[in-house]
Amino acid sequence: MNVSLRTHVGDLALQNPVMAASGTFGYGLDLVEFCPPERLGGVVTKGLSPKPRRGNPTPRIVETAAGMINAIGLQNIGVEAFCRDALPELRRRNVLVVVNVFGETQDAYLEVITRCERDEGIAAYELNVSCPNVTAGGMEFGHDAGTLMSLVARCRASTSRRLWVKLSPNAPYLVDTARAAVDGGADALSLINTLRAMAIDAVARRPVLATRCGGLSGPAIKPIALRMVDEVHRALPAVPLVGIGGIESGRDVAEFLLAGASAVQVGTAIVRDPTAALRIAGELEAFCAAHGVADVTELIGGLTC
Ligand SMILES: Cc1cc2nc3c(=O)[nH]c(=O)nc-3n(C[C@H](O)[C@H](O)[C@H](O)COP(=O)(O)O)c2cc1C
Repeated sequence: MNVSLRTHVGDLALQNPVMAASGTFGYGLDLVEFCPPERLGGVVTKGLSPKPRRGNPTPRIVETAAGMINAIGLQNIGVEAFCRDALPELRRRNVLVVVNVFGETQDAYLEVITRCERDEGIAAYELNVSCPNVTAGGMEFGHDAGTLMSLVARCRASTSRRLWVKLSPNAPYLVDTARAAVDGGADALSLINTLRAMAIDAVARRPVLATRCGGLSGPAIKPIALRMVDEVHRALPAVPLVGIGGIESGRDVAEFLLAGASAVQVGTAIVRDPTAALRIAGELEAFCAAHGVADVTELIGGLTC
């Protein structure tokens, strides 16, 4: 059976629904010999800030049952180095590039976008709103609907490119924050980012991570991510969603599409196996063929009750 894997996130066409998630695929070129980025639905860059950042002290990664906790601390090369050193090659390879943006102030988000606007080859911006807002006492931008809407609206006004907002699963009112992002001008929502978590070394009687807490990812969070995609899809059925959280197989992708996502991102599975995203896209095709699905978009929002 011939299966079409083509999908859309809003008006953006993807050759298949499987993208690489931010923070697990570098700047799109770091894993080329294992996974040619042009064969994925798209690549989301590591979060970019106006200036390079060194990130948190180590240890900043710990494996847990069914996942990992990271506290990388948004280490990155800075937007200028990305535009200069990575973007031209990504353009040459025809990679669908989504730039993940973060900042500790609204102005910092705008600075990243403004710099990127000078270059071609960016399909969308994805705002990471799980970052602490230093002008609001360190509360995450994505935690408060009003703060989120004002950030998204300012970013919206600074670009005509597509704007995705990546929701935090730690925010208290998921649908309210989803609606605030859309009201601010988001074209699509990515969900979810990592969940705040902690690991303890009982012998040393210390937290394992230097920063005490970090973000949990991997299969442990998949059921939570599915519930959140389903909830937002039912509340805002017209809004394109990108599902993220613990995806390890083609069948996992099918589950996210059925919950209402138009595409997905794979994170932790790539950390374990750099070929994972390609393998998962192949498995999705096989799943569709085995279950009589000729066009993968038939699955989107296809739960029967
Ligand atoms: C090592 C690591 C670094 C990450 N860095 C970022 C980042 O810079 N920006 C962002 O929005 N999400 C970041 N994430 C979150 C992932 O993009 C993804 O939302 C999350 O890990 C859940 O997906 P998964 O279970 O497939 O890993 C990072 C995750 C990991 C594991």
